[in-house]
Amino acid sequence: MFHRVIAHSDRYFILNYYRKVFMDTTQTECDAVKKISKHTEVIKEGKAEILVAEKNVFYNPVQEFNRDLSIAVISFFSKIRYKTVLEKKDPKLKDNGINIEDINLQAGLRNEDGITVLEALSATGLRSIRYAKEIPGIKQITANDISAKAVDSIKKNIQHNEVEDLITASHDDATMLMYRSRRNRFDVVDLDPYGCPSIFLDSAVQCIADGGLLLVTATDMAVLAGNSPETCYVKYGAISLKSKACHEIALRILLQHISCHAGRYGRYIQPVLCISADFYIRVFVRVFSGQIKCKANTSKLGMIYQCVGCETMTIQPLGAIKPNGGYKLANGPVVDQLCKHCRHKHHIGGPIWLDPLHDQVFISKLLCTLDNMELGTLKRIQGVLNVVHEELDVPLYYTLDRLMSIVRCHTPTILAFRSALMNAGYKVSFSHANKVSIKTDAPNEVIWDIVRTWEKDHPAKREKLDENSPALAILTQECTKEISFDIHPLANPLSRQKHLTRFQENPTSFWGPGTRSTTMVQSDRSDSKKKRNQNKNSKKKLSAVTEKIEEINESDETVIEQGPPAKQAKQES
Ligand SMILES: C[S@@+](CC[C@H](N)C(=O)[O-])C[C@H]1O[C@@H](n2cnc3c(N)ncnc32)[C@H](O)[C@@H]1O
Ligand SMILES: [Zn+2]
Repeated sequence: MFHRVIAHSDRYFILNYYRKVFMDTTQTECDAVKKISKHTEVIKEGKAEILVAEKNVFYNPVQEFNRDLSIAVISFFSKIRYKTVLEKKDPKLKDNGINIEDINLQAGLRNEDGITVLEALSATGLRSIRYAKEIPGIKQITANDISAKAVDSIKKNIQHNEVEDLITASHDDATMLMYRSRRNRFDVVDLDPYGCPSIFLDSAVQCIADGGLLLVTATDMAVLAGNSPETCYVKYGAISLKSKACHEIALRILLQHISCHAGRYGRYIQPVLCISADFYIRVFVRVFSGQIKCKANTSKLGMIYQCVGCETMTIQPLGAIKPNGGYKLANGPVVDQLCKHCRHKHHIGGPIWLDPLHDQVFISKLLCTLDNMELGTLKRIQGVLNVVHEELDVPLYYTLDRLMSIVRCHTPTILAFRSALMNAGYKVSFSHANKVSIKTDAPNEVIWDIVRTWEKDHPAKREKLDENSPALAILTQECTKEISFDIHPLANPLSRQKHLTRFQENPTSFWGPGTRSTTMVQSDRSDSKKKRNQNKNSKKKLSAVTEKIEEINESDETVIEQGPPAKQAKQES
Protein backbone atom coordinates (compact mmCIF):
# COMPACT_ATOMS: atom_id res chain seq x y z
CA MET A 1 0.00 0.00 0.00
CA PHE A 2 2.08 2.85 -1.28
CA HIS A 3 0.16 5.57 0.55
CA ARG A 4 1.27 4.21 3.92
CA VAL A 5 4.90 4.98 3.18
CA ILE A 6 4.68 8.39 1.55
CA ALA A 7 5.33 11.46 3.69
CA HIS A 8 2.44 13.76 4.48
CA SER A 9 3.99 16.70 2.61
CA ASP A 10 4.21 14.55 -0.52
CA ARG A 11 0.55 13.68 -0.45
CA TYR A 12 -0.67 17.06 -1.59
CA PHE A 13 1.94 17.04 -4.33
CA ILE A 14 0.57 13.71 -5.57
CA LEU A 15 -3.04 14.82 -5.22
CA ASN A 16 -2.41 18.04 -7.08
CA TYR A 17 -0.46 16.17 -9.75
CA TYR A 18 -3.38 13.80 -10.38
CA ARG A 19 -5.89 16.64 -10.36
CA LYS A 20 -3.79 18.77 -12.69
CA VAL A 21 -3.21 15.99 -15.22
CA PHE A 22 -6.92 15.35 -15.62
CA MET A 23 -8.52 18.64 -14.78
CA ASP A 24 -6.51 21.55 -16.08
CA THR A 25 -7.58 20.98 -19.66
CA THR A 26 -11.18 21.83 -18.77
CA GLN A 27 -10.47 25.01 -16.84
CA THR A 28 -10.85 28.11 -18.93
CA GLU A 29 -11.99 31.58 -18.07
CA CYS A 30 -15.66 32.41 -17.65
CA ASP A 31 -17.47 35.75 -17.99
CA ALA A 32 -17.19 36.61 -14.31
CA VAL A 33 -13.39 36.58 -14.52
CA LYS A 34 -11.25 39.41 -15.87
CA LYS A 35 -7.46 39.47 -16.03
CA ILE A 36 -6.08 42.77 -14.76
CA SER A 37 -2.41 41.92 -14.82
CA LYS A 38 -0.21 38.98 -15.79
CA HIS A 39 -0.72 37.32 -12.42
CA THR A 40 -3.98 38.78 -11.14
CA GLU A 41 -7.57 38.05 -12.04
CA VAL A 42 -10.69 39.81 -10.80
CA ILE A 43 -13.66 37.56 -10.12
CA LYS A 44 -17.09 39.14 -9.77
CA GLU A 45 -19.81 37.45 -7.79
CA GLY A 46 -22.83 39.31 -6.43
CA LYS A 47 -21.67 42.74 -5.25
CA ALA A 48 -18.13 41.55 -4.52
CA GLU A 49 -14.99 41.67 -6.61
CA ILE A 50 -12.20 39.31 -5.67
CA LEU A 51 -8.57 39.70 -6.65
CA VAL A 52 -7.01 36.30 -7.16
CA ALA A 53 -3.26 36.26 -7.53
CA GLU A 54 -1.33 33.30 -8.90
CA LYS A 55 -4.15 30.83 -8.32
CA ASN A 56 -3.02 30.19 -4.79
CA VAL A 57 -6.24 30.64 -2.86
CA PHE A 58 -9.39 28.53 -3.04
CA TYR A 59 -12.27 29.82 -5.15
CA ASN A 60 -15.02 27.53 -6.44
CA PRO A 61 -17.59 29.22 -8.73
CA VAL A 62 -19.96 26.26 -8.41
CA GLN A 63 -20.53 27.31 -4.79
CA GLU A 64 -22.29 30.52 -5.85
CA PHE A 65 -25.65 28.88 -5.07
CA ASN A 66 -24.37 28.06 -1.57
CA ARG A 67 -23.28 31.67 -1.01
CA ASP A 68 -26.48 33.15 -2.51
CA LEU A 69 -28.69 30.91 -0.38
CA SER A 70 -26.68 31.83 2.72
CA ILE A 71 -27.15 35.53 1.94
CA ALA A 72 -30.91 35.03 1.61
CA VAL A 73 -31.17 33.10 4.89
CA ILE A 74 -28.87 35.35 6.94
CA SER A 75 -30.63 38.48 5.60
CA PHE A 76 -33.94 37.22 6.95
CA PHE A 77 -32.30 36.04 10.20
CA SER A 78 -30.75 39.51 10.62
CA LYS A 79 -34.27 41.00 10.67
CA ILE A 80 -35.44 38.43 13.23
CA ARG A 81 -32.46 39.36 15.44
CA TYR A 82 -33.06 43.08 14.98
CA LYS A 83 -36.69 42.65 16.02
CA THR A 84 -35.49 41.04 19.29
CA VAL A 85 -33.07 43.92 19.89
CA LEU A 86 -35.84 46.48 19.36
CA GLU A 87 -38.16 44.59 21.69
CA LYS A 88 -35.46 44.40 24.38
CA LYS A 89 -34.86 48.13 24.12
CA ASP A 90 -38.55 48.98 24.33
CA PRO A 91 -40.75 46.23 25.85
CA LYS A 92 -43.88 48.10 24.71
CA LEU A 93 -42.95 47.22 21.14
CA LYS A 94 -43.20 43.54 22.10
CA ASP A 95 -46.81 43.99 23.22
CA ASN A 96 -47.76 45.80 20.03
CA GLY A 97 -45.93 43.23 17.91
CA ILE A 98 -43.40 44.45 15.33
CA ASN A 99 -43.90 43.14 11.83
CA ILE A 100 -40.67 41.66 10.46
CA GLU A 101 -41.71 42.77 6.97
CA ASP A 102 -41.75 46.40 8.21
CA ILE A 103 -38.16 46.27 9.44
CA ASN A 104 -36.01 48.21 7.02
CA LEU A 105 -32.27 47.67 7.34
CA GLN A 106 -29.54 48.72 4.96
CA ALA A 107 -26.82 46.55 3.49
CA GLY A 108 -23.24 47.82 3.29
CA LEU A 109 -23.58 50.09 6.33
CA ARG A 110 -22.41 49.18 9.82
CA ASN A 111 -25.36 48.85 12.20
CA GLU A 112 -24.43 49.02 15.90
CA ASP A 113 -27.50 46.92 16.79
CA GLY A 114 -26.88 44.48 13.96
CA ILE A 115 -25.51 40.94 13.88
CA THR A 116 -21.92 39.75 14.30
CA VAL A 117 -20.72 37.07 11.88
CA LEU A 118 -17.76 34.70 11.91
CA GLU A 119 -16.70 33.14 8.64
CA ALA A 120 -14.30 30.66 10.20
CA LEU A 121 -12.79 29.28 6.93
CA SER A 122 -12.77 32.20 4.58
CA ALA A 123 -10.20 31.51 1.79
CA THR A 124 -10.37 34.61 -0.47
CA GLY A 125 -12.83 36.45 1.79
CA LEU A 126 -15.40 36.41 -1.03
CA ARG A 127 -18.22 35.10 1.16
CA SER A 128 -17.57 37.64 3.94
CA ILE A 129 -17.35 40.49 1.44
CA ARG A 130 -20.63 39.46 -0.12
CA TYR A 131 -22.19 39.22 3.36
CA ALA A 132 -20.91 42.73 4.16
CA LYS A 133 -22.23 44.25 0.94
CA GLU A 134 -25.48 42.31 0.53
CA ILE A 135 -26.84 41.47 4.00
CA PRO A 136 -28.67 44.27 5.80
CA GLY A 137 -28.06 44.94 9.51
CA ILE A 138 -24.45 43.82 9.92
CA LYS A 139 -22.43 45.03 12.89
CA GLN A 140 -19.20 43.19 12.25
CA ILE A 141 -17.80 40.24 10.28
CA THR A 142 -14.65 38.28 11.11
CA ALA A 143 -13.10 36.59 8.06
CA ASN A 144 -10.66 33.97 9.30
CA ASP A 145 -8.32 31.49 7.66
CA ILE A 146 -5.39 29.38 8.81
CA SER A 147 -3.43 29.98 5.63
CA ALA A 148 -1.20 33.06 5.54
CA LYS A 149 -1.71 33.37 1.77
CA ALA A 150 -5.47 33.27 2.22
CA VAL A 151 -5.37 35.97 4.91
CA ASP A 152 -3.21 38.11 2.66
CA SER A 153 -5.82 37.73 -0.04
CA ILE A 154 -8.66 38.49 2.43
CA LYS A 155 -6.94 41.73 3.47
CA LYS A 156 -6.39 42.83 -0.14
CA ASN A 157 -9.99 42.03 -1.01
CA ILE A 158 -11.38 43.92 2.00
CA GLN A 159 -9.47 46.98 0.79
CA HIS A 160 -10.42 46.49 -2.85
CA ASN A 161 -14.12 46.28 -1.91
CA GLU A 162 -13.92 49.15 0.63
CA VAL A 163 -15.50 47.21 3.48
CA GLU A 164 -12.85 47.93 6.13
CA ASP A 165 -15.46 49.18 8.60
CA LEU A 166 -17.44 45.92 8.37
CA ILE A 167 -14.87 43.10 8.05
CA THR A 168 -11.83 42.22 10.15
CA ALA A 169 -9.35 39.72 8.73
CA SER A 170 -8.10 37.09 11.16
CA HIS A 171 -5.22 34.63 10.81
CA ASP A 172 -5.92 31.76 13.15
CA ASP A 173 -6.82 28.13 13.46
CA ALA A 174 -10.62 28.32 13.35
CA THR A 175 -11.03 25.97 16.32
CA MET A 176 -8.80 28.12 18.55
CA LEU A 177 -10.52 31.32 17.48
CA MET A 178 -13.93 29.81 18.25
CA TYR A 179 -12.81 28.44 21.66
CA ARG A 180 -11.52 31.89 22.56
CA SER A 181 -14.89 33.40 21.56
CA ARG A 182 -16.97 31.33 24.00
CA ARG A 183 -17.73 34.43 26.06
CA ASN A 184 -17.81 37.04 23.34
CA ARG A 185 -20.09 35.06 21.03
CA PHE A 186 -21.17 35.57 17.43
CA ASP A 187 -24.76 35.77 16.15
CA VAL A 188 -23.82 33.82 13.04
CA VAL A 189 -21.06 31.25 12.51
CA ASP A 190 -20.38 29.94 9.01
CA LEU A 191 -18.32 26.75 8.51
CA ASP A 192 -17.48 25.99 4.90
CA PRO A 193 -14.56 23.55 5.00
CA TYR A 194 -13.09 21.13 2.50
CA GLY A 195 -14.82 17.83 3.19
CA CYS A 196 -15.90 17.08 6.72
CA PRO A 197 -16.75 19.86 9.22
CA SER A 198 -16.56 17.65 12.35
CA ILE A 199 -13.35 19.03 13.83
CA PHE A 200 -14.89 22.52 13.98
CA LEU A 201 -18.20 21.63 15.60
CA ASP A 202 -17.19 21.37 19.26
CA SER A 203 -15.91 24.94 19.34
CA ALA A 204 -18.57 26.26 16.95
CA VAL A 205 -21.54 25.24 19.10
CA GLN A 206 -19.95 27.06 22.05
CA CYS A 207 -19.25 30.39 20.36
CA ILE A 208 -22.75 31.07 19.02
CA ALA A 209 -25.02 33.47 20.88
CA ASP A 210 -28.31 32.09 22.27
CA GLY A 211 -30.68 31.69 19.31
CA GLY A 212 -27.79 32.33 16.90
CA LEU A 213 -27.44 30.76 13.48
CA LEU A 214 -24.90 28.07 12.58
CA LEU A 215 -24.29 27.35 8.88
CA VAL A 216 -22.38 24.17 8.04
CA THR A 217 -21.29 22.72 4.70
CA ALA A 218 -20.09 19.12 4.30
CA THR A 219 -18.65 17.98 0.97
CA ASP A 220 -17.48 14.50 1.93
CA MET A 221 -20.57 12.96 0.38
CA ALA A 222 -18.95 9.62 -0.37
CA VAL A 223 -18.50 9.03 3.36
CA LEU A 224 -21.94 10.38 4.31
CA ALA A 225 -23.72 8.53 1.51
CA GLY A 226 -22.68 5.04 2.56
CA ASN A 227 -19.44 4.38 0.65
CA SER A 228 -17.54 4.05 3.91
CA PRO A 229 -19.85 3.54 6.92
CA GLU A 230 -16.89 2.92 9.26
CA THR A 231 -15.27 6.23 8.31
CA CYS A 232 -18.64 7.91 8.70
CA TYR A 233 -18.87 6.60 12.26
CA VAL A 234 -15.35 7.85 13.01
CA LYS A 235 -16.10 11.30 11.61
CA TYR A 236 -19.77 11.80 12.42
CA GLY A 237 -20.58 9.26 15.16
CA ALA A 238 -23.14 7.57 12.90
CA ILE A 239 -23.21 4.75 10.37
CA SER A 240 -24.18 5.76 6.85
CA LEU A 241 -26.07 3.42 4.51
CA LYS A 242 -26.09 2.99 0.75
CA SER A 243 -29.61 4.03 -0.05
CA LYS A 244 -31.56 6.01 -2.63
CA ALA A 245 -32.33 8.38 0.25
CA CYS A 246 -28.60 8.82 0.95
CA HIS A 247 -28.67 12.60 0.56
CA GLU A 248 -31.31 12.99 3.24
CA ILE A 249 -29.57 10.41 5.44
CA ALA A 250 -26.43 12.57 5.07
CA LEU A 251 -28.32 15.66 6.25
CA ARG A 252 -29.79 13.78 9.19
CA ILE A 253 -26.39 12.34 10.18
CA LEU A 254 -24.85 15.81 10.20
CA LEU A 255 -27.73 17.20 12.27
CA GLN A 256 -27.47 14.45 14.88
CA HIS A 257 -23.74 15.15 15.07
CA ILE A 258 -24.23 18.89 15.63
CA SER A 259 -27.00 18.22 18.15
CA CYS A 260 -24.75 15.79 20.02
CA HIS A 261 -21.96 18.39 20.26
CA ALA A 262 -24.40 21.09 21.37
CA GLY A 263 -25.97 18.87 24.03
CA ARG A 264 -22.64 18.56 25.88
CA TYR A 265 -22.81 22.27 26.66
CA GLY A 266 -26.52 22.39 27.55
CA ARG A 267 -27.42 23.67 24.13
CA TYR A 268 -29.90 22.34 21.61
CA ILE A 269 -30.49 22.90 17.90
CA GLN A 270 -33.46 23.84 15.77
CA PRO A 271 -32.95 23.28 12.04
CA VAL A 272 -34.14 26.16 9.87
CA LEU A 273 -33.24 24.79 6.44
CA CYS A 274 -31.23 21.73 5.43
CA ILE A 275 -30.47 21.08 1.81
CA SER A 276 -28.59 18.68 -0.39
CA ALA A 277 -27.24 20.45 -3.47
CA ASP A 278 -24.74 19.58 -6.18
CA PHE A 279 -21.85 17.76 -4.44
CA TYR A 280 -22.47 18.89 -0.87
CA ILE A 281 -24.96 19.34 1.94
CA ARG A 282 -25.60 22.59 3.77
CA VAL A 283 -27.48 22.99 7.04
CA PHE A 284 -28.75 26.17 8.70
CA VAL A 285 -29.56 25.57 12.37
CA ARG A 286 -30.32 27.84 15.29
CA VAL A 287 -28.50 27.05 18.54
CA PHE A 288 -30.24 27.71 21.85
CA SER A 289 -29.18 27.31 25.49
CA GLY A 290 -31.39 25.13 27.72
CA GLN A 291 -30.18 22.10 29.66
CA ILE A 292 -33.71 20.73 30.19
CA LYS A 293 -34.65 20.91 26.52
CA CYS A 294 -31.57 18.84 25.67
CA LYS A 295 -33.38 15.89 27.26
CA ALA A 296 -35.62 15.79 24.19
CA ASN A 297 -32.58 14.83 22.09
CA THR A 298 -33.01 11.05 22.40
CA SER A 299 -36.58 11.22 21.10
CA LYS A 300 -35.31 13.25 18.12
CA LEU A 301 -32.83 10.54 17.13
CA GLY A 302 -33.21 7.05 15.75
CA MET A 303 -31.57 4.16 13.93
CA ILE A 304 -32.57 2.94 10.46
CA TYR A 305 -33.20 -0.72 9.71
CA GLN A 306 -32.75 -1.25 5.98
CA CYS A 307 -33.69 -4.58 4.44
CA VAL A 308 -30.80 -5.95 2.34
CA GLY A 309 -33.31 -7.48 -0.10
CA CYS A 310 -36.10 -5.00 -0.80
CA GLU A 311 -34.44 -1.94 0.81
CA THR A 312 -37.50 -1.21 2.96
CA MET A 313 -36.52 1.26 5.69
CA THR A 314 -37.93 1.20 9.22
CA ILE A 315 -37.04 3.76 11.88
CA GLN A 316 -36.16 2.75 15.44
CA PRO A 317 -36.37 5.84 17.70
CA LEU A 318 -33.81 6.03 20.53
CA GLY A 319 -36.27 7.55 22.98
CA ALA A 320 -39.89 8.60 23.28
CA ILE A 321 -42.00 11.36 24.82
CA LYS A 322 -44.78 10.43 27.26
CA PRO A 323 -48.27 11.78 26.58
CA ASN A 324 -47.90 14.06 29.65
CA GLY A 325 -44.67 15.49 28.27
CA GLY A 326 -42.03 13.45 30.18
CA TYR A 327 -39.48 11.20 28.53
CA LYS A 328 -39.33 7.41 28.35
CA LEU A 329 -37.26 4.68 26.78
CA ALA A 330 -38.29 3.57 23.34
CA ASN A 331 -39.67 0.08 22.66
CA GLY A 332 -37.90 -2.16 20.19
CA PRO A 333 -36.96 -3.79 18.00
CA VAL A 334 -39.32 -2.34 15.43
CA VAL A 335 -38.59 -5.08 12.88
CA ASP A 336 -38.46 -8.88 13.02
CA GLN A 337 -35.17 -10.64 12.42
CA LEU A 338 -36.17 -11.15 8.77
CA CYS A 339 -37.96 -8.52 6.66
CA LYS A 340 -41.71 -9.13 6.64
CA HIS A 341 -41.91 -8.14 2.98
CA CYS A 342 -39.14 -10.28 1.45
CA ARG A 343 -37.62 -12.48 4.24
CA HIS A 344 -34.13 -10.98 3.95
CA LYS A 345 -31.95 -9.63 6.78
CA HIS A 346 -31.56 -6.00 7.84
CA HIS A 347 -28.63 -3.60 7.97
CA ILE A 348 -28.57 -0.99 10.71
CA GLY A 349 -27.57 2.63 10.13
CA GLY A 350 -27.62 5.82 12.18
CA PRO A 351 -28.30 7.36 14.55
CA ILE A 352 -29.93 10.01 12.42
CA TRP A 353 -31.90 13.16 13.28
CA LEU A 354 -35.66 12.40 13.11
CA ASP A 355 -37.13 15.84 13.86
CA PRO A 356 -38.02 18.24 11.03
CA LEU A 357 -35.27 19.29 8.61
CA HIS A 358 -36.83 22.69 8.03
CA ASP A 359 -38.70 25.38 9.94
CA GLN A 360 -41.62 25.78 7.54
CA VAL A 361 -42.77 29.10 9.04
CA PHE A 362 -39.28 30.49 8.47
CA ILE A 363 -39.22 29.11 4.90
CA SER A 364 -42.59 30.57 3.93
CA LYS A 365 -41.55 34.03 5.21
CA LEU A 366 -38.14 33.68 3.58
CA LEU A 367 -39.81 32.89 0.24
CA CYS A 368 -41.71 36.19 0.47
CA THR A 369 -38.46 38.15 0.86
CA LEU A 370 -36.79 36.68 -2.23
CA ASP A 371 -38.47 38.76 -4.93
CA ASN A 372 -36.55 41.85 -3.83
CA MET A 373 -33.17 40.14 -3.83
CA GLU A 374 -30.54 40.38 -6.54
CA LEU A 375 -28.89 36.97 -6.58
CA GLY A 376 -27.26 35.17 -9.51
CA THR A 377 -28.94 31.87 -8.63
CA LEU A 378 -32.26 33.35 -7.48
CA LYS A 379 -34.41 31.17 -9.78
CA ARG A 380 -32.85 27.99 -8.42
CA ILE A 381 -33.19 29.22 -4.82
CA GLN A 382 -36.89 29.92 -5.39
CA GLY A 383 -37.38 26.52 -6.99
CA VAL A 384 -35.57 24.58 -4.27
CA LEU A 385 -37.26 26.50 -1.44
CA ASN A 386 -40.68 25.87 -2.98
CA VAL A 387 -40.03 22.12 -3.03
CA VAL A 388 -38.64 22.32 0.51
CA HIS A 389 -41.81 24.15 1.55
CA GLU A 390 -43.94 21.33 0.12
CA GLU A 391 -41.81 18.59 1.76
CA LEU A 392 -43.61 16.36 4.25
CA ASP A 393 -42.16 16.17 7.72
CA VAL A 394 -41.43 12.44 7.42
CA PRO A 395 -37.88 11.08 7.64
CA LEU A 396 -36.42 9.67 4.39
CA TYR A 397 -38.02 8.64 1.11
CA TYR A 398 -38.12 5.94 -1.54
CA THR A 399 -37.54 6.50 -5.23
CA LEU A 400 -40.06 5.32 -7.79
CA ASP A 401 -37.52 3.80 -10.20
CA ARG A 402 -35.83 1.79 -7.42
CA LEU A 403 -39.10 0.45 -5.98
CA MET A 404 -40.12 -0.82 -9.38
CA SER A 405 -36.69 -2.20 -10.26
CA ILE A 406 -36.73 -4.29 -7.06
CA VAL A 407 -39.78 -6.15 -8.42
CA ARG A 408 -38.42 -6.03 -12.03
CA CYS A 409 -41.52 -4.26 -13.29
CA HIS A 410 -42.28 -1.27 -15.56
CA THR A 411 -42.50 2.06 -13.77
CA PRO A 412 -45.79 3.95 -13.48
CA THR A 413 -45.78 7.73 -13.83
CA ILE A 414 -44.87 9.61 -10.69
CA LEU A 415 -48.37 11.18 -10.73
CA ALA A 416 -50.02 7.74 -10.84
CA PHE A 417 -47.96 6.50 -7.89
CA ARG A 418 -48.57 9.67 -5.87
CA SER A 419 -52.29 9.43 -6.67
CA ALA A 420 -52.40 5.84 -5.43
CA LEU A 421 -50.97 6.95 -2.09
CA MET A 422 -53.38 9.89 -1.83
CA ASN A 423 -56.38 7.78 -2.87
CA ALA A 424 -55.48 5.37 -0.06
CA GLY A 425 -55.68 8.27 2.42
CA TYR A 426 -51.99 9.11 2.88
CA LYS A 427 -49.87 12.20 2.32
CA VAL A 428 -47.05 12.32 -0.20
CA SER A 429 -44.45 14.86 -1.28
CA PHE A 430 -41.21 15.06 -3.20
CA SER A 431 -37.88 15.57 -1.47
CA HIS A 432 -35.79 18.43 -2.85
CA ALA A 433 -32.92 15.89 -2.93
CA ASN A 434 -34.35 13.62 -5.63
CA LYS A 435 -36.53 14.12 -8.73
CA VAL A 436 -38.42 10.84 -8.38
CA SER A 437 -38.57 10.70 -4.60
CA ILE A 438 -41.62 9.52 -2.73
CA LYS A 439 -41.84 10.89 0.78
CA THR A 440 -44.95 9.57 2.47
CA ASP A 441 -46.56 8.85 5.81
CA ALA A 442 -47.98 5.59 4.38
CA PRO A 443 -46.75 2.40 6.08
CA ASN A 444 -44.29 0.28 4.08
CA GLU A 445 -46.94 -2.41 3.41
CA VAL A 446 -49.13 0.14 1.62
CA ILE A 447 -46.19 1.17 -0.59
CA TRP A 448 -45.66 -2.50 -1.55
CA ASP A 449 -49.47 -2.90 -2.05
CA ILE A 450 -49.28 -0.16 -4.66
CA VAL A 451 -46.33 -1.86 -6.35
CA ARG A 452 -48.16 -5.23 -6.29
CA THR A 453 -51.37 -3.76 -7.69
CA TRP A 454 -49.48 -2.03 -10.52
CA GLU A 455 -47.67 -5.26 -11.34
CA LYS A 456 -50.98 -7.10 -11.75
CA ASP A 457 -51.74 -4.95 -14.81
CA HIS A 458 -48.11 -4.65 -15.93
CA PRO A 459 -46.73 -8.08 -15.09
CA ALA A 460 -43.06 -8.70 -14.37
CA LYS A 461 -41.49 -11.75 -16.04
CA ARG A 462 -42.02 -14.00 -13.03
CA GLU A 463 -40.48 -17.02 -14.72
CA LYS A 464 -37.17 -15.13 -14.68
CA LEU A 465 -37.32 -14.32 -10.96
CA ASP A 466 -35.20 -16.36 -8.56
CA GLU A 467 -37.32 -18.28 -6.06
CA ASN A 468 -35.56 -16.52 -3.13
CA SER A 469 -35.65 -13.09 -4.75
CA PRO A 470 -37.17 -10.13 -2.90
CA ALA A 471 -39.24 -9.51 -6.05
CA LEU A 472 -41.03 -12.88 -5.91
CA ALA A 473 -41.59 -12.65 -2.14
CA ILE A 474 -43.19 -9.21 -2.50
CA LEU A 475 -45.26 -10.00 -5.59
CA THR A 476 -46.72 -13.20 -4.17
CA GLN A 477 -48.01 -11.57 -0.98
CA GLU A 478 -51.68 -10.59 -0.65
CA CYS A 479 -52.55 -6.88 -0.79
CA THR A 480 -53.77 -5.37 2.49
CA LYS A 481 -55.47 -2.41 0.84
CA GLU A 482 -57.47 -1.65 -2.28
CA ILE A 483 -55.44 0.61 -4.54
CA SER A 484 -56.63 3.08 -7.18
CA PHE A 485 -54.35 4.78 -9.69
CA ASP A 486 -56.99 7.36 -10.71
CA ILE A 487 -55.21 10.69 -10.90
CA HIS A 488 -55.81 12.58 -7.66
CA PRO A 489 -56.53 16.32 -8.07
CA LEU A 490 -53.67 17.20 -5.69
CA ALA A 491 -51.15 14.73 -7.07
CA ASN A 492 -49.23 17.37 -9.02
CA PRO A 493 -47.70 19.85 -6.56
CA LEU A 494 -47.57 23.58 -7.36
CA SER A 495 -43.78 23.68 -7.72
CA ARG A 496 -44.05 21.01 -10.44
CA GLN A 497 -47.03 22.61 -12.16
CA LYS A 498 -45.13 25.92 -12.35
CA HIS A 499 -42.05 24.18 -13.81
CA LEU A 500 -39.80 25.81 -11.21
CA THR A 501 -36.08 25.00 -11.33
CA ARG A 502 -36.43 22.44 -8.60
CA PHE A 503 -33.52 20.08 -8.99
CA GLN A 504 -29.85 20.58 -9.61
CA GLU A 505 -28.25 20.19 -12.98
CA ASN A 506 -24.54 19.44 -13.09
CA PRO A 507 -23.32 22.97 -13.73
CA THR A 508 -19.96 22.36 -15.38
CA SER A 509 -17.76 19.50 -16.40
CA PHE A 510 -15.65 18.27 -13.49
CA TRP A 511 -17.84 20.17 -11.08
CA GLY A 512 -17.18 19.27 -7.48
CA PRO A 513 -15.79 20.40 -4.16
CA GLY A 514 -12.65 21.82 -5.71
CA THR A 515 -9.06 21.32 -4.74
CA ARG A 516 -7.17 22.83 -1.85
CA SER A 517 -5.76 26.28 -2.62
CA THR A 518 -6.66 26.26 -6.28
CA THR A 519 -8.68 28.71 -8.26
CA MET A 520 -11.25 26.76 -10.25
CA VAL A 521 -12.59 28.99 -12.93
CA GLN A 522 -14.54 26.93 -15.37
CA SER A 523 -16.37 27.74 -18.57
CA ASP A 524 -20.12 27.23 -18.55
CA ARG A 525 -20.85 27.01 -22.26
CA SER A 526 -24.23 25.38 -22.44
CA ASP A 527 -23.58 24.14 -25.99
CA SER A 528 -20.40 22.33 -24.99
CA LYS A 529 -20.44 18.66 -25.95
CA LYS A 530 -18.40 17.92 -22.84
CA LYS A 531 -21.14 19.39 -20.68
CA ARG A 532 -23.85 17.41 -22.46
CA ASN A 533 -21.91 14.19 -22.10
CA GLN A 534 -20.70 15.05 -18.62
CA ASN A 535 -17.27 13.73 -19.65
CA LYS A 536 -18.47 10.17 -19.96
CA ASN A 537 -15.22 9.09 -21.56
CA SER A 538 -13.01 10.74 -18.98
CA LYS A 539 -15.14 9.57 -16.05
CA LYS A 540 -13.29 6.28 -15.77
CA LYS A 541 -9.96 8.11 -15.58
CA LEU A 542 -11.37 10.55 -13.04
CA SER A 543 -12.82 7.83 -10.89
CA ALA A 544 -9.42 6.12 -10.78
CA VAL A 545 -7.92 9.42 -9.68
CA THR A 546 -10.55 10.15 -7.08
CA GLU A 547 -10.20 6.64 -5.73
CA LYS A 548 -6.48 7.27 -5.34
CA ILE A 549 -7.24 10.59 -3.65
CA GLU A 550 -9.71 8.95 -1.29
CA GLU A 551 -7.22 6.24 -0.47
CA ILE A 552 -4.68 8.89 0.45
CA ASN A 553 -7.24 10.97 2.39
CA GLU A 554 -8.40 8.00 4.38
CA SER A 555 -4.92 7.41 5.70
CA ASP A 556 -4.62 11.07 6.74
CA GLU A 557 -5.88 11.20 10.30
CA THR A 558 -3.97 13.91 12.06
CA VAL A 559 -3.89 17.07 9.99
CA ILE A 560 -5.79 20.01 11.44
CA GLU A 561 -5.57 21.99 8.25
CA GLN A 562 -7.92 19.99 6.13
CA GLY A 563 -6.84 18.09 3.10
CA PRO A 564 -8.57 17.79 -0.26
CA PRO A 565 -12.04 16.29 -0.49
CA ALA A 566 -12.84 12.62 -0.76
CA LYS A 567 -14.40 11.01 -3.80
CA GLN A 568 -17.43 12.87 -5.00
CA ALA A 569 -20.72 11.05 -4.54
CA LYS A 570 -22.83 10.52 -7.63
CA GLN A 571 -26.03 12.56 -7.62
CA GLU A 572 -29.16 10.53 -8.10
CA SER A 573 -31.14 13.04 -10.03
C1 LIG B 1 -13.48 25.49 1.13
S1 LIG B 1 -12.40 26.77 1.55
C2 LIG B 1 -13.48 28.06 2.07
C3 LIG B 1 -14.25 28.69 0.96
C4 LIG B 1 -14.99 29.95 1.33
N1 LIG B 1 -15.82 29.78 2.51
C5 LIG B 1 -15.84 30.44 0.16
O1 LIG B 1 -17.07 30.46 0.21
O2 LIG B 1 -15.23 30.82 -0.85
C6 LIG B 1 -11.72 26.20 3.06
C7 LIG B 1 -10.69 27.14 3.69
O3 LIG B 1 -10.49 26.66 5.01
C8 LIG B 1 -9.15 26.95 5.38
N2 LIG B 1 -8.82 26.11 6.54
C9 LIG B 1 -8.58 24.76 6.58
N3 LIG B 1 -8.37 24.35 7.86
C10 LIG B 1 -8.51 25.46 8.65
C11 LIG B 1 -8.43 25.70 10.06
N4 LIG B 1 -8.15 24.72 10.91
N5 LIG B 1 -8.64 26.96 10.50
C12 LIG B 1 -8.90 27.98 9.64
N6 LIG B 1 -8.98 27.83 8.30
C13 LIG B 1 -8.79 26.59 7.81
C14 LIG B 1 -8.35 26.67 4.13
O4 LIG B 1 -7.12 27.39 4.15
C15 LIG B 1 -9.33 27.16 3.04
O5 LIG B 1 -9.00 28.47 2.65
ZN1 LIG C 1 -37.23 -6.81 2.50
